[in-house]
Amino acid sequence: MRGYFLKGTLELLLSLVLAGIIPFFLGKNIRKKAHIWYVAGWVIALGTLTFAILTRLEIISVSSRVQWVRVIRAVLSGYLPAAIFIYVMWAGALPKGSSIQKKFMSIRSEMSILGSILYIPHALYYCATAVGPAVTSLLEGHFEAGLQIMTWAGVVNTVLLLLLGITSAKSVRKKMSGKKWKSLQKWAYLFYFFTYAHGIAISLGSYNERAIIYTLIFGAYFIVRVRKAIKAKKK
Ligand code: HEM
Repeated sequence: MRGYFLKGTLELLLSLVLAGIIPFFLGKNIRKKAHIWYVAGWVIALGTLTFAILTRLEIISVSSRVQWVRVIRAVLSGYLPAAIFIYVMWAGALPKGSSIQKKFMSIRSEMSILGSILYIPHALYYCATAVGPAVTSLLEGHFEAGLQIMTWAGVVNTVLLLLLGITSAKSVRKKMSGKKWKSLQKWAYLFYFFTYAHGIAISLGSYNERAIIYTLIFGAYFIVRVRKAIKAKKK
């Protein structure tokens, strides 16, 4: 076993389980008390960001072997928000009217907002720490495809996340025409594509088990979604 249990893979798997059971156990509660959940999301996001900054500045030091750090890592490294978005993404591909689709659809916009809030520490922290080295490496004439894809896919996704997160909010949604809102939401496909490219650029070669997990999740989604679109067009 490499390092401490596959560095990140357990966090990804647990995040997928957690995000998957949310609609079944907390769906009604999230729908009714969405604002409380958003506040909880902000508390987790800001707490994680503070922890990351304090650790980076070496004001505090915590061993990565301490188990509770895994929870922070799940947020800071992007696994929990990615898992939430994976279900948001799949909700749109499952057969219309199926009980699972209904469950996920019932809190889809709340999950999008929560996923966006939980992505904030990851996007901010890595924009501040990883974009500089990628630009420096380019300026020095070194082109490392993995590093460049990882960086710029992350940056594009941060912009898309802002756009999609803000327009998911009910108050903003109400102000837009249905047609405009629907066409804006198509940018989500680009977000999913870049999330896959970003995850693959990071994991391929070092954490191949994650590259396989991402390929299965996003590959199967692509096939199911395209088939659904073709069916809808025929109708
Ligand atoms: C909303 C935008 C973003 C999304 C959706 C996203 C998604 C992800 C995901 C799913 C992972 C886990 C990949 C894995 O190791 O299996 C990850 C890790 C990572 N991302 Fe992002 N990311 C975003 C923004 C950024 C930005 C702007 C950067 C900076 C260039 C960045 C840099 C990184 C780095 C360095 C890791 C590895 C972290 C670690 O292993 O602790 N990300 N990201």
